[in-house]
Amino acid sequence: MDLAAANQVYSDVRALKIDLTFAIGGIKNHEIYFDHLGGEGGDPDGAIGGLIERDFDSADAWRADLRASGMAGRGWAWTAYDWDEGRLFNYVGDAQNTFPVWNATPLVALDVYEHAYFLDYQTDRAAYIEAFLRNLDWSVVNHWVGAYRVPIE
Ligand SMILES: [Fe+2]
Repeated sequence: MDLAAANQVYSDVRALKIDLTFAIGGIKNHEIYFDHLGGEGGDPDGAIGGLIERDFDSADAWRADLRASGMAGRGWAWTAYDWDEGRLFNYVGDAQNTFPVWNATPLVALDVYEHAYFLDYQTDRAAYIEAFLRNLDWSVVNHWVGAYRVPIE
């Protein structure tokens, strides 16, 4: 195999492997998103309420950070429990496959791709994020906290 052919194989494999992460990331991100919508929003309660209070100081501070993350990201903002750090973080994603962090479990997934809001809100992403927060189902998030055995103390 000459160098050009080797480079083509490398590029083909690379493209396929990246597409794989985009496709799987897209499935997982949207499963979280749709599963935890349909609730009454409001302040988080139960176990997730305690974790947010502990790690962000207040629900308001968590919301402010998630809003800022959602406005900044091109694709996603997540609240995830980082198993190494033992706490929640809000992370930002530009695409389905950027930028998940190893050994962190997403518990809130805010889709900020234009397709998520343009039909209803046009360019007003901030209004869409408020609607997202009003429709979060905290009981679903609390179910995940329990199912993943996120430590709460
Ligand atoms: Fe989406």
